[in-house]
Amino acid sequence: MPRLKFVATAFVLAALSVPAFAQQSDPTLAATPPMGWNSWNHFAGSVNDADVRAAADYMVSSGMKAAGYTYINIDDTWEGQRDAQGFIQSNSKFPDMKALADYVHSKGLKLGIYSSPGPKTCAGYPGSYGHVQQDAQTYAKWGIDYLKYDLCSFIPIMQKEAPHDPQKQLAIMQDAYRQMHDALVATGRPIVFSLCQYGWMDVWKWGASVGGNLWRTTDDINDTYARMADIGFNQLGLAKYAGPGHWNDPDMLEVGNGGMSDDEYKTHMSLWAILAAPLLAGNDLSKMSPQTIEILTNRDVIAVDQDPLGKEGSRAFAVGMTEIWTKPLSHGALAAGLFNRDTVVQPVTLDLHAIGYPPNAKLRDLWSHHDVTARNGQYTVMVPPHGVVMLKVSR
Ligand code: GLA
Repeated sequence: MPRLKFVATAFVLAALSVPAFAQQSDPTLAATPPMGWNSWNHFAGSVNDADVRAAADYMVSSGMKAAGYTYINIDDTWEGQRDAQGFIQSNSKFPDMKALADYVHSKGLKLGIYSSPGPKTCAGYPGSYGHVQQDAQTYAKWGIDYLKYDLCSFIPIMQKEAPHDPQKQLAIMQDAYRQMHDALVATGRPIVFSLCQYGWMDVWKWGASVGGNLWRTTDDINDTYARMADIGFNQLGLAKYAGPGHWNDPDMLEVGNGGMSDDEYKTHMSLWAILAAPLLAGNDLSKMSPQTIEILTNRDVIAVDQDPLGKEGSRAFAVGMTEIWTKPLSHGALAAGLFNRDTVVQPVTLDLHAIGYPPNAKLRDLWSHHDVTARNGQYTVMVPPHGVVMLKVSR
């Protein structure tokens, strides 16, 4: 993957003194974490118009749309040349972006696109540098509903403009994101604004202040249990920065891409739901096994992610290789993910008293869709290797 690598030491230093900002992001635009599909994890640089139309078709026919998935997001490599006036055009893989948006809208879905504040995107295609307003206007004209804005080649510009001055580099980066946000707002079209700068400079502390509806908290995911778990189980401490209109984004889903077992994909889906993460499927929707569809459309698990309270969950307990993560839900309920990170089956016990519930609290298993019962205020269950048991606890 043609991905730029940069040294982040300067950013870490500057992050120590990031001031608190007021939220500028629109809380009605992503009142719950965005759900949809993104082309990158499966198609990467090969994505074309037909793939995106197929994603829209299969999002409807698979039941994903009915389960809440809305955005069809084109990632990097759609960009063509600029015209004589400087307006961006799509390349030959996307012959008519407006027609594509019309098609996606005709299915009751929304279309997302991708750019960078730098002159080049991460895959080396034209970015928005010097053309921010023009690009926002073009997206609105096409009917775009979501923009992922990926730092990429803007980093050397920050470094050149403010050598050895991390605070100033941070300010330049924030300004670049704010400029695109303001340009999107100026179009009058509601466009979800997704920040992608890999979690540098504690973006969760200021992402909403520059208009971000979500911000990546990490570098890229890949389709392995090790990488997914490394990202997902390391989101501790970020919950307080998420809420309606502004979400932490631990990157897109890999469910159905083939590199993990179904138990591992259930862990992925459960953990992302507890993290109130955006649920952006990253697989080929035209080739899904029944198990993949079942995992992606589990409405009980999706309801945890989309709970209107908008609280991100966190780790409550860790014992050996097992962890219990909890997420407060509306009406006084709680989601509990009982995770086994070991390669052999392990028992996990949820103690109702320890999570503030009475011994007779109601328990529902969100993967088996059955009610289960605690004994003496405790629920013990065998959790498969790399697997999860996900419960909803209510009074
Ligand atoms: C970066 C992002 C990825 C993807 C690629 C596209 O690596 O983090 O999510 O958008 O760029 O080039």
